[in-house]
Amino acid sequence: MRDLFDKIYRDKGPLGKWAAHAEGYFVFPKLEGEISNRMKFQGKEVVTWSINDYLGLANHPEVRKVDAEAGAAYGSAYPMGARMMSGHTDLHETLQNELAAFVKKEAAYLLNFGYQGMVSTIDALVSKDDIIVYDVDAHACIIDGVRLHMGKRFTYKHNDVESLEKNLERATKMAEQTGGGILVISEGVFGMRGEQGRLKEIVELKKKYNFRFFVDDAHGFGTLGATGAGAGEEQGVQDGIDVYFATFAKSMASTGAFIAADKEIIDYLKYNLRSQMFAKSLQMQLVVGALKRLDMLRTMPELKQNLWKIVDALQTGLKDRGFDIGTTQSCVTPVYLKGSIPEAMALVKDLRENYGIFCSIVVYPVIPKGLILLRMIPTATHTLEDVSVTLDAFDAIRTRLENGTYKRLSAAVTAAMEK
Ligand SMILES: Cc1ncc(COP(=O)(O)O)c(C=O)c1O
Repeated sequence: MRDLFDKIYRDKGPLGKWAAHAEGYFVFPKLEGEISNRMKFQGKEVVTWSINDYLGLANHPEVRKVDAEAGAAYGSAYPMGARMMSGHTDLHETLQNELAAFVKKEAAYLLNFGYQGMVSTIDALVSKDDIIVYDVDAHACIIDGVRLHMGKRFTYKHNDVESLEKNLERATKMAEQTGGGILVISEGVFGMRGEQGRLKEIVELKKKYNFRFFVDDAHGFGTLGATGAGAGEEQGVQDGIDVYFATFAKSMASTGAFIAADKEIIDYLKYNLRSQMFAKSLQMQLVVGALKRLDMLRTMPELKQNLWKIVDALQTGLKDRGFDIGTTQSCVTPVYLKGSIPEAMALVKDLRENYGIFCSIVVYPVIPKGLILLRMIPTATHTLEDVSVTLDAFDAIRTRLENGTYKRLSAAVTAAMEK
């Protein structure tokens, strides 16, 4: 028999194996200073394109004031206990009602974290006779929720409605045998590449197939739709979404999340969501802070306008300069370049050290081998000057990537990794 830890000593996992070369710089970097368009990385100012503070609320003076006052009034403990036991308050209810109204659903329920909440909601919505059909590129929280499911599940090709339909046919046949129902899950906006889920076409399929539709709109909430209610509103199909999810970790610049649906469904989830039944209630400071942020989303359309001014300038500028930004239909701005992982590391180092640009880097196995994805999240606090220096920096790094500079610079890393 082996020691359980043997495998850990042997294999650090797909990301962990890079730790010696990457930790503290490419992964677990420390961004310092107030959350904004410019922060400090290793003592130097950088333009930050990797924080999800879409509407610039994280460091907004009114938000900071309310957060501080709520902290002073309630501390970080209140209320103690799970919602069902001793952690329920009027303000939790008020926030739920306001969130439901904002996303045009009958009712809403708070979640402590989006990730856990998604896992738990999927778990609560299905039983073993049901079938889940979900996009193959779904966020980890969807994949992990599906993992808990005891029944059948099918993936469909990313954002491919034909593939979804084929899988719905299979699922329908199977559900007829098991006596269960079908849950389809998509993201409102796919966070890596920025495409919107094809919600309109998926809702249209309800005319032909019997299923319920669950949408994770982490990146759409606050950024898309006339009122900011998200990808469903943007595509005119909010009514066709049976269960709507968004996190506070992006546009709301906080922690927490919620689901919204018909009242009877939320009433059921309230009594069956294990992540809320067996965990402490969302703390009051976050509830009060979320009420303030929601009010600002509702009453300050200029926040979203500022965001989109930056998104348009950045995405148009990149396209005009011949960069491949894929098929984004949202604020998420990917730039695809060709190169190896060591080249990507040298390139990102150059961007940070010599041009003061900080963005996330995504490589194989998250995207195909040989591709480098630089992912930018514009915010309402960025300026056109930030966009301009970023575009110039991207021009310069592309030239160096193409003329082999990064290949030479990364030779030592490549050699070390091949050992
Ligand atoms: C698509 C998507 N769903 C869910 C989550 C998880 O949300 P949270 O950070 O609130 O756990 C994220 C990341 O924040 C996300 O990008």
